[in-house]
Amino acid sequence: MATLKAVRGTRDLLPPETALWNRIETTARRVFARYNFGEIRTPVFEDTGLFARGVGEETDIVSKEMYTWEDRARAQSEKTQMLTLRPENTAGVVRAYIEHGLGETGLLQKLYYIGPQFRRERPQKGRYRQFSQIGAEVIGPVSAGSESPLRDAEVLEMLATLLDELGITGWTLELNSVGSAADRAKYNDALRAALEPVVGQMCADCQRRAVTNPLRVLDCKVPQDQPIIEKLPVIADSLDEASKGHFAAVMAALDAAGVPYTRNQRLVRGLDYYTRTTFEFTHGGLGAQNALLGGGRYDGLSEMLGGPKAPGIGFAMGEDRLVLTLQAQELNQSSTPRQGVDGFIAPIGEGMNIEALKLARELRQTGLSIELGEGSFRLKKSFETAEKVARRIVILGEDELQSGILTVKTFATGVQEKVSRAGLSGFLAS
Ligand code: HAM
Repeated sequence: MATLKAVRGTRDLLPPETALWNRIETTARRVFARYNFGEIRTPVFEDTGLFARGVGEETDIVSKEMYTWEDRARAQSEKTQMLTLRPENTAGVVRAYIEHGLGETGLLQKLYYIGPQFRRERPQKGRYRQFSQIGAEVIGPVSAGSESPLRDAEVLEMLATLLDELGITGWTLELNSVGSAADRAKYNDALRAALEPVVGQMCADCQRRAVTNPLRVLDCKVPQDQPIIEKLPVIADSLDEASKGHFAAVMAALDAAGVPYTRNQRLVRGLDYYTRTTFEFTHGGLGAQNALLGGGRYDGLSEMLGGPKAPGIGFAMGEDRLVLTLQAQELNQSSTPRQGVDGFIAPIGEGMNIEALKLARELRQTGLSIELGEGSFRLKKSFETAEKVARRIVILGEDELQSGILTVKTFATGVQEKVSRAGLSGFLAS
């Protein structure tokens, strides 16, 4: 019988790698708290219409990559519904903002999330069908200052701080403005006009997009289409004075805060809800999938979903890509410190198993990490096992129990010494 494997594009995360995932999440939570963000957890699946309306029918995500199914009614009171595994979390957060009337507080809502997202993309390094995002959104009524360029600068400054605290070096912040909805309509017209004479030479997707949503032509990855795309007008020329002023204020605030960035006029991002500021942080070590994170403003999204006016800005980091980057950086460092739990307790003989369990409990209650051996093991096997998982081994036999003096070996130095039971916790912690 064929053995079952994790589905293509999904993976198991195992220790010790999961320790790195936890470290990343702990650091993110700590930084978010300093900037007054609270956690939101939205469902992993939503009504398909949320993404069709929020992310946009013509985007690759909605048109090709969603895991969607018909959820059949189980009772007369239920309706058969189309549901989708969330491909991203911004639409869900804005839906929750509307559903819970969060705007009525009159305050800015600063919300972060950590969790799995699903896109049926072609799997490759850094690109999976189930992946994890760490993201945050700042959203609220205009009266709370949600439109201010200061919010954009604060989010970007927080991201620079977070990447630094995670220990990720060598990132680049790419920045652009895609203007207001009106600017984008103007830009779409300019693109349509520029595409008309050349679109016949482009791929089938571009031919369709040129009619339905020309901005999405800029997402095309087909190599033959790139020379044409490079000659298309840039969005900066379609921005009105207000959008230009907003963008200039974001850049001035970043300059003042000392956050470096480069302008990338082609950065329009693959989701339809963006307005004004868009950005990505990229990293050279990631290869083709070089975006560590992406985000931007979405001043009209709440209204697109039937809610009140509630401008917002946010981002999502690809946690898988943060892990890959940190792993590559750690490989480049010459020596990584020896890992392992603080102590391995080796009971001598099965009769000592219960005493070993009690000692392990005592030590763990002091905060130490302890692995518990097995009395049926010969001493040689206990040493071999201990050396693989712990910094030290503690021998517990009948004599040690009676005398209260234990033998402890430190693997790094090879030194074996006698330690009193009372002093054991302090010794193992050293
Ligand atoms: P996004 O650019 O689609 O934006 O995704 C954000 C990040 O998620 C990417 O930069 C990448 O690091 C990671 N990512 C995306 N797809 C995959 C994948 N298949 N495998 C691994 N990592 C992936 C959004 O999702 C927006 N919701 C961000 C946002 C929040 N904009 C405003 N607020």
